[in-house]
Amino acid sequence: IQFSLQRRVDSLLKDYSVGKPLINERYSCNSFSRSTSSSSIATEEGLFVVHEPQTSAVMDKFLRRKSLQMRDQQQAWQSSLQGRRLQEFRKSLPSYNEKDIILSAVSQNQVGHETAGDDVVVISGETGCGKTTQIPQYILESEIDAGCGALCNIVCTQPRRISAMAVSERVSVERGENLGESVGYKVRLEGEKGRNTRLLFCTTGILLRRLLVDRNLKGVTHVIVDEIHERGMNEDFLFIVLNDLLPHQPELRLVLMSATLNAELFSSYFGGAPIIHIPGFTYPVCTHFLEDILDTTGYRLTPYNQLDDYGQDKMWKMQKQVLRKRKSQIAFVVEDALEAASFKEYSQQTQDSLACWNPDSIGFNLIENVLCYICNNKKPGAILVFMTGWDDINALKDQLQTHPLLGDPSRVLLLPCHGSMASSEQRLIFNKPEVGVRKIVLATNMAETSITIDDVVYVVDCGKAKETSYDALNNTPCLLPSWISKASATQRRGRAGRVQPGECFRLYPKCVYDAFADYQLPELLRTPLQSLCLQIKSLKFGSISDFLSRALQSPEPLSLAGRHLSVLPVEPKLGKMLIYGAIFNCLDPILTVVAGLSVRDPFLMPYDKKDLAESAKSQFAAKDYSDHLALVRAFEGWKEAELEQYGYEYCWKNFLSAQTLKAIDSLKTQYLSLLEDTGVVDRATCNAWRHNEYLIRAVICAGLYPGVCSVLNKEKSVSLKTMEDGNVLLYSSSVNGRETNIPYPWLVFNDKVKVNSVFLRDSTAISDSVLLLFGGELSRGPLLNSKRIDIKAHQELLSAVQLLVTEDQCDGRFFFGRTV
Ligand code: CDP
Ligand code: MG
Repeated sequence: IQFSLQRRVDSLLKDYSVGKPLINERYSCNSFSRSTSSSSIATEEGLFVVHEPQTSAVMDKFLRRKSLQMRDQQQAWQSSLQGRRLQEFRKSLPSYNEKDIILSAVSQNQVGHETAGDDVVVISGETGCGKTTQIPQYILESEIDAGCGALCNIVCTQPRRISAMAVSERVSVERGENLGESVGYKVRLEGEKGRNTRLLFCTTGILLRRLLVDRNLKGVTHVIVDEIHERGMNEDFLFIVLNDLLPHQPELRLVLMSATLNAELFSSYFGGAPIIHIPGFTYPVCTHFLEDILDTTGYRLTPYNQLDDYGQDKMWKMQKQVLRKRKSQIAFVVEDALEAASFKEYSQQTQDSLACWNPDSIGFNLIENVLCYICNNKKPGAILVFMTGWDDINALKDQLQTHPLLGDPSRVLLLPCHGSMASSEQRLIFNKPEVGVRKIVLATNMAETSITIDDVVYVVDCGKAKETSYDALNNTPCLLPSWISKASATQRRGRAGRVQPGECFRLYPKCVYDAFADYQLPELLRTPLQSLCLQIKSLKFGSISDFLSRALQSPEPLSLAGRHLSVLPVEPKLGKMLIYGAIFNCLDPILTVVAGLSVRDPFLMPYDKKDLAESAKSQFAAKDYSDHLALVRAFEGWKEAELEQYGYEYCWKNFLSAQTLKAIDSLKTQYLSLLEDTGVVDRATCNAWRHNEYLIRAVICAGLYPGVCSVLNKEKSVSLKTMEDGNVLLYSSSVNGRETNIPYPWLVFNDKVKVNSVFLRDSTAISDSVLLLFGGELSRGPLLNSKRIDIKAHQELLSAVQLLVTEDQCDGRFFFGRTV
C-alpha cells in the first residue's frame, strides 16, 4: 500500500501542476497539514509526508481554491427557495439560539492549550433540540464560511449504526446535497463517503478502528462524541484514548453531546471543560403507573393504601424482589401485581388472561389492552411503545395486526423501529399518517434518545431494555432484558410531550419504579473485560490496569488483576495451561496449542484428498500420539519456512491453512503480552524447556484434565472409554484415529462431540505418572490402585508437587518452576 500510495501521490502532484484536479479516485485526501519543511496528507490508508516546500505551496493553493468552491456552493443553497425553507425549520430548533455560544466555545479552545479541558466542550440538551443534526453542521458551515472548508475534518460518532446512517442522510438533505458529498457516513461493512466529505458520521467502533492505523488522528480537526450518557464500552474506551491524545494534538477539538444532565461528570473528567446547556421546551406529560393503568383499562387494582395487610405485604415483597434482582421479567411483575390485588374484584377479562398466563404473552396482553384503550378512548396522536428487542416487536406486531379491539386494520399504522432495520423501512417512522389513522411505533430503546419522532403523544413503556451482561456458566456475554434506570424512564416519558401535552403509560407499579437505579451502570462496569483487554493490547496501549485506571469510572482492580486467569481471554482451562506453560518454562509451544485451540484447526481436510491430508498431518506427529504436538511442529515448521520465504509452498504441501497459522501467530503475541502483565513470565527462562516433550505433554494434561479417556489396546483396534460416556471414538482426522496400538494408558482431549456415538477431537497420549501428577484428585485413587505404578516413589513426588502448586502461590511472582 505504501508503495502504491507513494506512486499515487507522486502522480497526483504531477497532475496538479499541469492543472488537473488534484485528488480523485480512491485515495481521497482526508486532510492536509503543513509545517515549514514538509506537508503531510492523511488518507484512509495512512499518512504521507511530502518533503518539499514548493509542494506545500501548491497544496495550499489547491485547498484554498477548493474551500472557496465549497463556500460558493453553500451560499447558493442557502439562498435557494428550498434551502431557505429548511433554514427556517432549522432556526426553529432550540439549539439555534445557542449556535453562537457553541461555536465560540468550540473555536475559542483553539487558542491556549494549558489543560485538556481547553480542547473540550460538553453540550447537553433534551432529545430533539437539534444536537445531532445541527451542531456538527454549525461547525461545518462556519468552517466553510470562514473559507477553510477543505481544511476541516469533522468526525461525529454515534452508538448505533442506524443513527449514523439516518443522521447523515438528514444533514445532507438540510445541506441540499446528496449523501457522500460534504457529509457522509461509515459503519461496519457499509458507508457513503466521497473525496469531498468533511463531516463524517460513524459508529464509535469505526473511530476506534481508525485509531489502529492512525494513533494521533492526524488531520482530524473535530471529534464529536454523541449520546455520551449511554456509556457504552466503546465510548468509555474512546474517552481514555482521547483524554490521553488531546495534550499532544493541539489541532484537535472535542465536543461531547448528551441528552441527560450528567454533564458535570464528563466536564470534570476532561479537566473542567465548559458545559453548554440547550434549554428545551416540552409539554407536560401525565404519567400512569401500572396500578392506574389496570384501573382505567378494565383490569382493576386496589390502590396501595387501600390494600389489606396481605396485599401490602405482597407489594412490599415485590419491591424487594426487584431491588434484589433487577433482571426478572416484566411478566412476573405483572403477574405479581395482579396477584397482589387478586382478592375480590377481577373482571372476567383479567381472569382469562391469567388463566392462559405464560411468561411471554402476559406482557403482550397488557400492552395490547393499553393500546386498545388509547385507540378507543384518547384523542388522535401517535403512540410510541418501548419494548426490549426485535423478536418481541415482531411478535407483538403480528398479534396486533389482527387484534379485534383495534378495529378496522386500515385505521392503524403499525411500524417497527429497531437497530437492524433497513433505512428505507426506518424512514416510514417519521412520516405523518393520514387523518384518522393511528400511528403506533414499536421501538427498542433506540427511540429513547437517538431518534426523534415528532408526532408522538402517547408513550407506553415496558420498563425494560436489553443490556449486555455476562453468562458466567457458559463464559459468554449475552443480551438480556433488564430493568431500565430512572433516567431512561424519564427520557422515555419525555418522548410524549414534543408537540402537545402527552400521556405516558408505565407498565410497572410505582414501587418498581422507585427501585430503579438512578442511572444505568456503564457497560465497562458490568460486563467481562476480556475482549477489552485484548483490544488494549492489540492497540498497544500498554498495561491494562494503568490504562483502565484512567477511565471515567474505573472497574475495580479486583475484577481486573486478582486472578491471572480472569485477564486471559480464553476458557479457564486453557488459561491454566498457559500459566503452567510459563511456570514450567515451555511457554512457546503451549502458546501455540492454546492459540490453535482458540482459533480453528489449521490442518485442512479437503474432502477429495482426505487420505493425503491425513498422512501429511500424521507426519508431524512422528509417533508422539498427540494432535497438539503435531500442531506445534506444523506451526514451527511454518515459521521457519516463512523466514526462508517458502511459507506458501510449505502450507500447500502439508495441507495447512496459512491464514489460520497467521491468526494463531498473532494471537500468540497477544496472549504472551497479557501473560507478561500477570507477572508469571520470566522472559529469560520461559522457553528453556520448549523442546522437552514430556513436559509439554504434562502441561497439556494439566490444562485438559478432566477431559481424559482410558486406552485399551486390543488385537487390531484400540478401545477408548471415558468415565461419563463409556465407549468413545476418535475422528479419523486425529493422528491417533487410525492407530491400532497406542502405547500409552490415557488420552487427554479438549472437547467431544455427540453424533451417534461420542467422538473426541484432538487428543494427546499421556502416561500414568503424568496423569497422577498433573491430573486432578479424581484420577488418583484408581491410578494408585492399579498397581501399574510404583506408589511409594510417586507419592513422594506427588506431595512435593502438591506443596508447590497451591492456589495461593499462583498469585504474584513465581517461585518453583525453574527448580523442580
Ligand atoms: O440530537 P437531538 O436529539 O438533540 O436532535 P436531532 O436528532 O438533531 O433532531 C432535531 C430535529 O430534527 C428533530 O426534532 C426532528 O424534528 C428533526 N429531524 C427530522 O425531521 N428528521 C430526521 N431524520 C432527524 C431529525
Ligand atoms: Mg441526538
